[in-house]
Amino acid sequence: MRIIYPWSLVKFLAVSAVLVLSAQIVSRVALGKRSTPSPLPVEEYRVISPETYRYIINQPAVCEDRSPFLLFMVPVAPLEVAAREAVRKTWGAPSQDTLTLFYVGVPEGGQVASTLEEESMKHADIIQVNFQDSYQNLTIKTMMMMNWLATHCPNASYAMKVDADIFVNVFYLIRRLRGAPRQGFITGSVIRDGTPRRDSNSKWHVSEELYPEDSFPWYVSGAGYVFSADLAARISWASRFVRMIPLEDVYVGLCLRVLGVRPAYSLSLLTFRNLFELRKLDYDRCTFAKLVIVNQFKPSELLRVWPDFSKGHTSC
Ligand SMILES: *[C@@H]1O[C@H](CO)[C@@H](O)[C@H](O)[C@H]1NC(C)=O
Ligand SMILES: *[C@@H]1O[C@H](CO)[C@@H](O)[C@H](O)[C@H]1NC(C)=O
Repeated sequence: MRIIYPWSLVKFLAVSAVLVLSAQIVSRVALGKRSTPSPLPVEEYRVISPETYRYIINQPAVCEDRSPFLLFMVPVAPLEVAAREAVRKTWGAPSQDTLTLFYVGVPEGGQVASTLEEESMKHADIIQVNFQDSYQNLTIKTMMMMNWLATHCPNASYAMKVDADIFVNVFYLIRRLRGAPRQGFITGSVIRDGTPRRDSNSKWHVSEELYPEDSFPWYVSGAGYVFSADLAARISWASRFVRMIPLEDVYVGLCLRVLGVRPAYSLSLLTFRNLFELRKLDYDRCTFAKLVIVNQFKPSELLRVWPDFSKGHTSC
């Protein structure tokens, strides 16, 4: 049997189909895959809420009479004195544009109160919060750093969350940031195809119960990432909707998804090389001069290469 449709009906159906499809595409592009998040149950939010913790050592006034262009926020274990000392003498040395602060929790199995307090008196750059300092708790530390920035240094232009074992080319970073967006901006080593490790022996294990999705949203590797300071308050806010997982960089990525903020790549112009180098590289002044970070530096290595780099990087 043959059905003959009137031509006008065929045209009408075809045009409607095109309209419906394009409306769907437009709304998908506009909204991304986000759905309206619902706030966490009180008990779950309590784990990451800044209200739960208190400062044992704080530096509430460091930004009172200045607005740093770039604030380095360095999570570090309480006992890692040598790492802090190396950072202070190298890229983290206070300057016109930068300020460096170290964030610590409470060491497992007790206090180091007296030595940490002494160090804090001397340098005024340590912030200690009363949660147990452990790898699993780095997400709590990161959210405390965001809260600290939003509360005590909201006029900073940019902040960088950076580990103490990283080489930071502070000169190049500042130059690049002068032309960066002032709001809603986050950059670093972008990971856009991350997936949860279900193997319970992995350091990065996340159970299906904790995180049922099969993939992570775009995020920036936790070794070092840079963001406009406005994001600190926004990420803090978004954490009301995101269940804590023990991967701090993925967690920040989940908060960014709630906000609809996508991390920006940082690539060199000609070679498209990632400026946030995740590998360990042997020191070479002119290679390092064209990167923002390099991974895995022992305190002694940082101290060894810095004099050459800080004097010589301009001649590359
Ligand atoms: C931050 O900047 C605003 C406006 O420029 C100013 O009114 C305020 O006093 C500044 N706050 C701090 C803590 O510097
Ligand atoms: C994380 O910190 C909280 C608060 O101090 C503590 O109860 C918990 O045991 C810590 N978790 C780990 C895995 O260290």
